[in-house]
Order: sequence, then structure tokens, then C-alpha cells
Amino acid sequence: PLPPPFQVPLPIPAVLKPAGTSGGADRYAITQREASAEILPGVTTPLWTYDGTFPGPTIESRRGRPVIVSHRNELPVPTVVHLHGGRTPAASDGYPTDLVLPPGWQDHSMHTGHGMHDPRAVVTELTRDYTFPLDQRPALLWYHDHRMDFTAPAIWRGLAGLHLVRDDAEEALGLPAGPRELPLMIADRAFAADGGFAYPALDPTLRVRPGVREPYLAGVLGDVILVNGAPWPVHEADAARYRLRILNASNARHYELEAVTDDGRRLDLVQIGADQGLLAAPVTHKLLPIAPAERYDVVVDFSGVPIGGLVRVVNRAGSGRTRDVLAFRVVRKAADDSRVPGTLSADLPAWRRSEAVRVRDFSFRAGRMRGDHGWVIGGLPFDPARADVTTRLGDVEVWRLIADVHHPVHLHLAGFRVLSRRGGPPLAHDAGLKDTVSLRPGEAVEIITRFDGYRGRYLFHCHNAEHEDMGMMANLEII
Ligand code: C2O
Ligand code: CU
Repeated sequence: PLPPPFQVPLPIPAVLKPAGTSGGADRYAITQREASAEILPGVTTPLWTYDGTFPGPTIESRRGRPVIVSHRNELPVPTVVHLHGGRTPAASDGYPTDLVLPPGWQDHSMHTGHGMHDPRAVVTELTRDYTFPLDQRPALLWYHDHRMDFTAPAIWRGLAGLHLVRDDAEEALGLPAGPRELPLMIADRAFAADGGFAYPALDPTLRVRPGVREPYLAGVLGDVILVNGAPWPVHEADAARYRLRILNASNARHYELEAVTDDGRRLDLVQIGADQGLLAAPVTHKLLPIAPAERYDVVVDFSGVPIGGLVRVVNRAGSGRTRDVLAFRVVRKAADDSRVPGTLSADLPAWRRSEAVRVRDFSFRAGRMRGDHGWVIGGLPFDPARADVTTRLGDVEVWRLIADVHHPVHLHLAGFRVLSRRGGPPLAHDAGLKDTVSLRPGEAVEIITRFDGYRGRYLFHCHNAEHEDMGMMANLEII
């Protein structure tokens, strides 16, 4: 039996303490291991975790101060860590065959899919140090599993956590902070009768055959909406402004969020940031669509809500129980000296179409992968041995993306701007610097970016995690 909505308190993932510092970098250690949690009251759910919790611990870092995270894998399968949205050297970007092996895995290592035959794959480590320079705009990033063929079930079992990058300029703006800044990791899950997360994997051992059973080829949805790992939680709030750092960490579910008061009023969702940090200026929404892996940084003002009132954050794209997400119970009047300045940032890249040295076209469509149902980019399923795109460090490019069904397209390393949708201007929520863009069914979207930072092998892919595992990923080689 599912709990009634808005009863469970909103958990806030613990912030991880550095294990030490060396050479100007903060060092962290995370153990990937099995654990369990009582997510639904009275029910024990086994999990795969970073350090025992779902979501994993949050890492908070400062712009330009490197972070080294040592990941130890005690799970029963290999794993790969990717810092989503990180400007990360290729060696630490979590390429899908750069495995962190679990103890004793050597016996199985030839059975994990064709990626294992890639001579460039790194397959020897039980622990791995990931180095993140974090020389990038402050933003809400997240880290999650990225293993070849089996990313979706690994994230579903719990391998996801938040990583906040901050800097002095952002802190000087006076935005809501401290207890009035809340990370919200939204993820839907389905539960099996035994309390475990239900996932329709073709190969439940997650070792040999990737993908999901029919009728889940479009992506796996759950009927329980978790926020920070709790079902339809509620948070006791001051009658004041709050900064909500929203991440859609769902495998496949899209949301359309609105904040509704008891008397049916829709509060303004004042967007101040996108995937890759602050906008130039705030953009006000009543309804905010959010696709898998997208982040929105939003300020909501509860000061006009009567004490005792409930503000429900609802999902207009859902039905039944998936229409509710979380709620805020406004419990007290409180002083509020926060503000939302009219100018938020001045360092947003503004690449012009005329700067682009190349225009590329990519279609995202249903196809075949290794003789099975799959999803393909430009007609081809993912192959780690093929360079799909080779570009020069520093080049500006326009990419034209076209979709059959809904595909949230994510580019590693480089943030981008949305140039157009359906040949028209971008939508209001396309503002700012992004790393994931939601292609709606049948839609063509143009993005522009500059490939700077590091040379090496990166990825772009659909972040519907099932599509990704079933082939919808490609290599981006920066030379
Ligand atoms: Cu969020 Cu390639 O990943
Ligand atoms: Cu897709």
C-alpha cells in the first residue's frame, strides 16, 4: 500500500566531508555498496548506493578548486562514475567501458558486452580516483553510474547523487540560501511485491544482455514519485522565498511542474538557472517542463501563502498518483532578506551562428541494436570503437537534432545554448547554458556550442536511460 501524499518529511542528502586535502584539491572517498532503506513505510527496499544512501551524499565544491573522488566498488557488477555537467578531462569523465571492477569480477570480465573488446577500455581497477577540476560556472551537477549497456538499471537501483559547484559571485547575489536552498532530486520508481525496486531488465543479473522487456522499450516509468528518495514528501517552510535546485533524475519520466496553493493559485516559478548555472536574467514560469537529467534553479516565494497553507508541487504531465510530486507546508512567518536581482550573471556564452565552423545533423530514432530492439543516432547504435564525431578543440558548431519520440539529448563536456525549436525561437525554459535539451516528439532543435576544455573521447546520448542502454549514444572525439 502506498502512503498518502505529503506525509513523509523531505530528506536532504547529507553533504560529504572531504577525507583530506592535497595540493589544493579536496579529496573524497565513496564506497559503492549494497544497502537498504525504508522508502515506503514498513517496507525494506534493497538498493545499490554511493556510501549507503539513496541519493548518494552531496558533494559541495568551489569553482576552480579541484576535487578528487576515490570510488571503491563493492557492488556485484562493474560500475562507471560520470559527473553529469562536469567539465572533466576525458580520463575522469566516466567513459562507459572505463570500469571500476568489483572484487572478484575478473572471472566474468569477458561477458559484459562488446564494449569489453575495445582495446582502449580500462578494466583493471577495484578503486578509481576521479579528478574533477571544476573550472566551470557554478551549477547543480549530479553523478551517476554510466556503465556500458547497464546504466539505466544501475541508476534505478540507486546510483545517483548531487554535486553542487558554488562561487563567490553567485553567493554575493543574495539569493535564498542556507535552509532556504533545497536540492530536489525527483525520480519515479516502481516497487515489486517484495519491496524491491521493480525493473523489467532482459537480464536481471545485469551482466550480459542489455535492455528491457516489452512493453518498456520506450523507457521505464514508476508509479511512485520520490524526491530525495522519499515518496511524495512534504517540507515545512517559512513564509519566505526558497531556492529550489531541481533535478529530474528519473530514467524516462518527463514532468511539467507547477506550484499550486490551497485556493488553486499557481505561484510564479522564477527560473534563475539552467543545467549549467545562472541565467543572464530571471525568467518567470507558471509551468515548467523538466526532462530526464535536466536541472532548473527556481525561486518560489511563499510569503503570500497563509500560515498553515499547503503549496503542492504537481506534475501536470502525470495522472493519478504521478500527478503529485511534493508539497510545502508554510508553517511560520519569518524575516526574508533574500532577493532575486534583475541581472544574475554576465558570463553566459553567446555564440553566434556565424561563428560556427560546422553544422551537423543527428536524428534520434527507434532502430536495432545487436539484433534487438534499440534506439539509434543517425541510424547507428552505440559502438565504443567508432568515432562518430571528430571536432577540434575550440571549434564552434551548430548541431541540428531531430527526434521521432521524446528524447532528452545530453552532451558531455560542453554546455550549449538552444538556438531554435521547430524552426522558431527557443522556448522560455530553454534559456541559459544547458547540457541536456528535451526534444519533443517530431521536433527539430538546433543547439550551438564551443568544444573547449579538454581533448579526448567524450559522449553524447539520449538521457532516457533505457534509450541510452539500447544504443542511443555516440562518441565525440575532441582533437
Ligand atoms: Cu547524465 Cu552521459 O550522462
Ligand atoms: Cu531517447
